[in-house]
Amino acid sequence: MTAERPPAYLAATRVTAGYDGLPVIKDVSLAVGLAEVVLVMGPNGAGKSTLVKAITGELAVLGGSLTLSGSDITRAREEDRIGAGIGYVPQVRDVFPPLTVQENLEMGGYRLRGADVKGRQDEVFATFPQLAGLRRRQARSLSGGERKMLAIGRALMARPQLLILDEPTANLAPVVARTVLHGIVSSLAQAGRAVLLVEQRVSLGLDVASWGYVLSDGRLILQASCGVLREMEDLGSLFLGRGAGDLTGRAARDADRGVNDDAADSIADERIGGSENAT
Ligand SMILES: Nc1ncnc2c1ncn2[C@@H]1O[C@H](COP(=O)(O)OP(=O)(O)O)[C@@H](O)[C@H]1O
Ligand SMILES: [Mg+2]
Repeated sequence: MTAERPPAYLAATRVTAGYDGLPVIKDVSLAVGLAEVVLVMGPNGAGKSTLVKAITGELAVLGGSLTLSGSDITRAREEDRIGAGIGYVPQVRDVFPPLTVQENLEMGGYRLRGADVKGRQDEVFATFPQLAGLRRRQARSLSGGERKMLAIGRALMARPQLLILDEPTANLAPVVARTVLHGIVSSLAQAGRAVLLVEQRVSLGLDVASWGYVLSDGRLILQASCGVLREMEDLGSLFLGRGAGDLTGRAARDADRGVNDDAADSIADERIGGSENAT
């Protein structure tokens, strides 16, 4: 397993950010290259979504800097970052439920000239043929997997070079989660995009990403290639918290016995408390 990485498309250098001027993440440095899937892991409340919001501009950066394709975006407005190449699929409120699939995509293309919207929409339908057949359906009537596909499609309308996915498999059944990560997320990077993936299903996340960062209590505590992280016996306990050793051990033994990864994932999810109560 090589640890060679592409040049940074997004680089965060010692970023500190939080709410009402109070830091939640501190001195976080991370990079994502084109055609690379980078995984951010950590327990609930570690600051993963806060980090993502500092990158997208939803939250002000209190310290440190951000560059995108070499340009400083530390103080750029949220809408300008989207224009500069960042696509963002938030953990919650990822689509407009009362609007149709087509209308949601149009919302994703609101910065485009009217004439361009249709072409971009066709690009999204080419990427996700399943969505084309659903174009007149309200987003609220979609299955979880279809809805996530739409949320990603909506972000793709702006042709982002960097796609940030905050827990895209939260609340999805294990088999659907697998499809989203192995099918969709991998192909986004194979098409040359940089992908920053926040994911609680750690073993699935490690499968599709090549480099991983572990956040704990607002700080980066570990980074390594996913091959190395996968071999780490104590990785689970780093973010499952106290008493998780048994569970990780059980998951590992189950995996040895041939129980599929999803079993291990759902054990981890249970221990973390699922994502229902995530912010
Ligand atoms: N809007 C907010 N205002 C104040 N504190 C917040 C807000 N959102 C999150 N936090 C706090 O920031 C910390 C990190 O949260 P978050 O980034 O959502 O973690 P994660 O995504 O890793 O679960 C938590 O302690 C959380 O309570
Ligand atoms: Mg979160």
